[in-house]
Amino acid sequence: MQKTAPSSMKRIARITALAFAALTTVGAQAQAQAGAPLKVGFMLPYTGTYASLGNMIESGFKLYVQEHGGKLAGREIQYFKVDDESEPSKATDNVNKLIKRDNVDVLVGTVHSGVALAMAKAAKDNNTLLIIPNAGADAITGAMCGPNIVRSSFSNWQPAFAMGKVAAEKGAKKAITITWNYAAGNESAKGFTEAFEKGGGKVVKDLTLPFPGVEFQALLTEIAAQKPDAVYAFFAGGGAVKFVKDYVAAGLNKTIPLYGPGFLTDGTLEAQGAAAQGMLTTLHYADNLDTPRNNAFRKSFALTYKANADVYAVQGYDAAQILAAGLNAVKGDLTQRDALTAAMRKTPVDSPRGKFTLSAAGNPVQDIYLREVKGINNEYRAIAVKALADPARGCKL
Ligand code: BEZ
Repeated sequence: MQKTAPSSMKRIARITALAFAALTTVGAQAQAQAGAPLKVGFMLPYTGTYASLGNMIESGFKLYVQEHGGKLAGREIQYFKVDDESEPSKATDNVNKLIKRDNVDVLVGTVHSGVALAMAKAAKDNNTLLIIPNAGADAITGAMCGPNIVRSSFSNWQPAFAMGKVAAEKGAKKAITITWNYAAGNESAKGFTEAFEKGGGKVVKDLTLPFPGVEFQALLTEIAAQKPDAVYAFFAGGGAVKFVKDYVAAGLNKTIPLYGPGFLTDGTLEAQGAAAQGMLTTLHYADNLDTPRNNAFRKSFALTYKANADVYAVQGYDAAQILAAGLNAVKGDLTQRDALTAAMRKTPVDSPRGKFTLSAAGNPVQDIYLREVKGINNEYRAIAVKALADPARGCKL
C-alpha cells in the first residue's frame, strides 16, 4: 500500500477542516433563515402620475401571499417600502435604503423604466434578487440581463410591436407616435414603428414631451395638421387619463383612430369615461378573460380590496408567484441561490393573464391580446400575437 507523506496529510486535514467550516457556515445561515421572516422590499411609486400603478402592484403581490396563509415556502413575510416617486435621479439612493439599510432578501420594483434601470444596476452590483413587476425597459432583459433579475410584466417592445402589426393590418399607412420622452415611451414608439413599417406603413413623426408633463395642446394641433391615418400613444396612469380626454376634446378621434399599448386604458377607465369607449389597445391582459384562473383572481381581489383588478395588480400577483416558485424549490433557503433563480426562471406561471413561461433572459413569453374598451373594462377581442418573446437584444446568459 502506498504511504501518504506527512505534508500531504496535513494539507488534506486543512482542506477537510475548511470544507467543514464552510458547510457549517452555510448550514448555520440556512438554519438562521428558517425561523426568520423573508424580507421583501417594495420600491414603487406611491405618489405622482404612477401612484395608482404602484398601489395595485403591492395589492396584487400581497393578495397572493394572503392566499397562501401569509407565507411563502413556509416563511413569514416582512415588508419594507420606499416611494420612488418615479424619479430616476433619486433611484440609486432609494434602492440602497432597501439593500443596505433594510437588508432585504428580495427587491420588488418598479413601474418607471428610468428608475428600474438604476435598480437593476444596484441589484447586479450587490447581487440582490430583483423582480420587476412593471417597468418594461428593454435593456433590463437585454444587454443588462442577469441571473438574479426577472420580470413578471413585459418588455416595452412587446405590446408596442403587437400594436404596430395590428395597425398595419387595419390598413393604416401613415402614423404619428406621441409619448413621454424617456426609456419606456421611446422604446414603445420604436417597437410600434418596427412592426408597423414591416407591415407596409410609415411613421412620419415621433412627438414627445417631458415626463410626466400633460401639456398636450401644441402636439395635438400638430397631429391635426399632419392628418395621419393613425396615432400611437404611450402614456399611463394619470397622464393617460388626461391624454385620452384631451384627444377626444380636440375632436381628433372622429377622423384619426388612437391606438396604444394597453397602459393607455388600463386602471384608467372610470376616470376616462366616455372618451375611451371603443378604443383598441394591445396588452398581455384583458379584464374579461373568461378562465377559471382569471375569474377566481378577480373575485378574490374585489373581495379583499373592494376594487377591480387591473394589469398592474396581475403583475404584482405574478411577481409573488414567481418568487414562490423559486422559494419552494429550495424550501425557503436563500443560501441555495442558483437553484432558487433557476426555479424562478423554469417554473411555468399560472397567471390570470393565461399561463406563461420566462425566457432565458427572464422576461415573460406571452400572448399579446387585442382589447376593446367597453364600459369600465378592457375586453378581449383577439390574440394579436401568440407567445411573443422579447428579442432580448444583447443578453448573454
Ligand atoms: C415604464 O416606465 O416602463 C412603464 C410605466 C408605466 C406603464 C408601462 C411602462
